[in-house]
Amino acid sequence: MHLTDLTATESFKSLQQHYADARTWQMRDLFSQDSQRFEHFSIETAGLLFDYSKNRVSQETMRMLVELARERGVEQLRDAMFAGEKINATENRSVLHTALRAPRTATLRVDGQDVTGDVHAVLDRIHTFTDQIRSGQWEGYSGRPITDIVNIGIGGSYLGPKMACQALRSFSHPRLSMHFVSNVDGHDLDALLQTVNPETTLFIIASKTFTTMETMMNAQSARSWFLKHASQAGLPRHFVAVSTNTEAVKAFGIDPNNMFPFWDWVGGRYSVWSAIGLPVALAIGCDQFRQFLDGAHAMDQHFRTAPLEKNMPILLAMLGVWYRNFFNAASVSIAPYHQDLAYFPGYLQQLEMESNGKGVAANGVRLDMPGCPVIWGDTGTNGQHAYFQMIHQGLDLIPVDFITALKPTHYLPGHHAALLANCFAQSEALMRGKTPEEVRRELQGSGMSAEQTEELVPHKTFPGNRPSNTIMMDQLNPSSLGALIALYEHKVLVQGAVWGVNSFDQWGVELGKVLAKTIQNEITDSVQPDRHDSSTNALIARAKAALQ
Ligand code: F6P
Repeated sequence: MHLTDLTATESFKSLQQHYADARTWQMRDLFSQDSQRFEHFSIETAGLLFDYSKNRVSQETMRMLVELARERGVEQLRDAMFAGEKINATENRSVLHTALRAPRTATLRVDGQDVTGDVHAVLDRIHTFTDQIRSGQWEGYSGRPITDIVNIGIGGSYLGPKMACQALRSFSHPRLSMHFVSNVDGHDLDALLQTVNPETTLFIIASKTFTTMETMMNAQSARSWFLKHASQAGLPRHFVAVSTNTEAVKAFGIDPNNMFPFWDWVGGRYSVWSAIGLPVALAIGCDQFRQFLDGAHAMDQHFRTAPLEKNMPILLAMLGVWYRNFFNAASVSIAPYHQDLAYFPGYLQQLEMESNGKGVAANGVRLDMPGCPVIWGDTGTNGQHAYFQMIHQGLDLIPVDFITALKPTHYLPGHHAALLANCFAQSEALMRGKTPEEVRRELQGSGMSAEQTEELVPHKTFPGNRPSNTIMMDQLNPSSLGALIALYEHKVLVQGAVWGVNSFDQWGVELGKVLAKTIQNEITDSVQPDRHDSSTNALIARAKAALQ
């Protein structure tokens, strides 16, 4: 259904004609022509306001983009996902992260498995365990309560929990410090181990497959470090696992009673809702973790039932398609104006780029147009003093998603008004720009000579007409964070359907893994490597000389 060339679809062709005209529109004019543009181009659901009025679109553009979504089978793919159909065809798997946040009363069976029942049974175990750790009832080997939690995992087994723990740090247990080790680079683990006490540290080994090289190496080193201080008998109080692979967890030496399972229908980058979210549940408590799930569920319900024209994930996704496939925008910048969302851009990099960074359609045919743009960004106001220069005046069109919250969770006077003012000023400046006439007036008004003024005019002119979305919540809390993440997850599904790719596999990470294994052996064994290109051979030889 969504496998024909994108450019061959009727609605795409109509949009191409429409674009010829739309590309000349100025957003300044669009705002002055419609005093209610904000009302006409914003929606609210699940605690999020989505203001998309500062985009180079008319009502007609939005209607046509929605039509493209329809023609590319977005609704069918969405419904198939929620129903548990095996939409991840290359791995023959269902895609059911939405089932992880469905209420206990929901019913869903897939391949004879009671998905809802299994999900809530694990959640209940997480509840008991997190209560024990948080209350201090769970003691380390010397009888002291746990103070430090170290999550060892990478990719989806790291980015989601780390991002969410930072986002919800105001809601966290004061005794527990959360740490995340991901990189196989020993500098990561070594630096951490120097700061924690084995008597009061809990390690979570988080890996869907329990075979990922980085995670297994860090887990082994953490265990060796622990055993230098404590006996084998202490291990069960300090090592727990989160995985789908019970056998490998047992082989590592972790008792399955200390393992929190999940299932192959949870993709790594969609797994923060599963037991992979254990660090989040430990930090904020399971009741608040359930609010996080409820927030995501509210967005699921909206995505599932709202008309496409008023459907937040659909609109966010189709605006992305508009800039990617018509304006040829190669990247999107994510600008959270909330320090606690510092890791959100990095989280979205995996979510969007590992999902939709593909060159072939689900049927194996090369895409006729590029899909996923580069996702990047940093918190505001920091980004303003680094790369916003290019977003304002460079020749590339870089759409921005501003994300912010109306109320802070701190009590420092003045800061939040300053933060919000900067956020709104940036989107206004990007939209309005500053014309040469405005610059001229300003400079001459300050008494500058006509000659000097003319020299400076091109440098001080802002072209404007640069698009952005603003996503605003009342406060960043477990529920609004859940809704925010789910919004972007569904954006990925919608864009994947439009581009025709399978958003749920990630074969592109395999080649490097295989080659690394070979080269690792070559660095550590005595044979001289000669089977690579001259560059790789020479680099390996230097590493051998340094490390052997
Ligand atoms: O980088 C590839 C990948 O498979 C990601 O999709 C995944 O999140 C990550 O590795 C970690 O995998 P695992 O949880 O199996 O250790």
